[in-house]
Amino acid sequence: MSAPTPAKKELAAIKGTKDILPAEVGLWQKTEAEAKRLFELYGYRELRAPIIEATELFEKGTGESTDIVTKEMYTFTDKGGRSVTLRPEYTPSVARAIIEHRLDLQLEPLRFYYIGPMFRYDKPQKGRYRQFHQIDIEVFNEKDPAIDAEIIEMADTLLTTLDVSGTETLVNSVGCRACRPAYSKDLRAHAEKVRDALCDDCRRKIAANPLRIFDCKIETCREQAARFPKIGAYLCPECREHFDKVRAYLGLFGIRYRVEPDLVRGLDYYTKTTFEIVSGGLGAQNSLLGGGRYDDMMKDFGGPDICGIGFAMGMERLISVLRVKPDKRRFLYFAFMDDEGKSKALELARLFRRSGRECLLEFGLKNLKNQFGRANKLGAAWVCIVGEDEVRKGRYQLKDMAAGTQIEGTAEELLDIIRDIKT
Ligand code: HAM
Repeated sequence: MSAPTPAKKELAAIKGTKDILPAEVGLWQKTEAEAKRLFELYGYRELRAPIIEATELFEKGTGESTDIVTKEMYTFTDKGGRSVTLRPEYTPSVARAIIEHRLDLQLEPLRFYYIGPMFRYDKPQKGRYRQFHQIDIEVFNEKDPAIDAEIIEMADTLLTTLDVSGTETLVNSVGCRACRPAYSKDLRAHAEKVRDALCDDCRRKIAANPLRIFDCKIETCREQAARFPKIGAYLCPECREHFDKVRAYLGLFGIRYRVEPDLVRGLDYYTKTTFEIVSGGLGAQNSLLGGGRYDDMMKDFGGPDICGIGFAMGMERLISVLRVKPDKRRFLYFAFMDDEGKSKALELARLFRRSGRECLLEFGLKNLKNQFGRANKLGAAWVCIVGEDEVRKGRYQLKDMAAGTQIEGTAEELLDIIRDIKT
């Protein structure tokens, strides 16, 4: 067979985006189903927000000094003259939805999850896409450090369930509005001293938000940042106590972690706890998930003064480290002889599908032999033969392809045999 002709360049998917083809989708569906099942066990419910939001939401939420807002957003003016943005992350959307629908006044716990695409115009590389998918969870109105530890435990459980190994959990505290100004002041003074050794972008960050220098990927800036003072020494008693308790609860869960004093995370909204789970198998983009507390976002949005915490896991990165295989599908292939057989097979397939069995009929094949050949190649678990004799007698042949055995029966009898076999 000749190699397929490559699609014309102008018809290819745009840079940094990719198709997830059926061969891979099984793994995505399995992962998504596992995540949803687990989150529901912890009392989370799905909240689906729009992909497109007012640009201002991310400027206010994600933060004006972040790389995301300054460089990476897919922002455009719509036909009504509004500036809109394809969401680069999910957290601000959830906060907006709570305020908009006054979910805080309802009885249900404010615990949400969502799985879907995000958009960031960054330089594509292994594990970094312009359209990527996140599994996101958010909790609101829980001040207690136990929730910080519980969501890390939930992430850890998800990874364990999916048999992901070789990860490391990093935690830190980035303080709050009471203790961070003193830290920022000292950081700014330190950065000012080494201004000439920093890139243009980091020089700009000295005035705007020196914390963001830690996000720079340039080696010389990283070397400088490694010598900067650490936030840990500046935490106020409340933030320190909170962090101590988070760590104690992580100990209670038996979660191994490392305190990473430089883990400030590239989003402006974090207060107190920040964390990441990194994986050695990922290469340079090693962060499998990241999250933290954001106690001021809701009130900064003009909503109720309730705190928030959450994390997001990168689906592409997660899938790339999975060793589990999607379940093999056990389906029934109908092989029919002539038009009468075709009509009968259509009827039978409808009956079998209604009781939950995957069935396949293909209409362009010449004869039973061709159909058998296809069923074999496709890996059908069974073939149901609907030949002339079978149609006349109302009794059909069912061949178990793995065992090589064949039995005869009415539609109902055959259905009884394969109905309860696990897919
Ligand atoms: P983030 O660290 O920007 O946090 O992203 C979370 C995860 O999304 C990363 O750890 C990574 O796995 C994945 N990710 C990010 N950018 C890309 C990309 N360009 N290509 C592929 N994967 C990517 C947030 O987004 C916060 N909203 C997390 C959060 C929720 N904090 C509190 N609640």
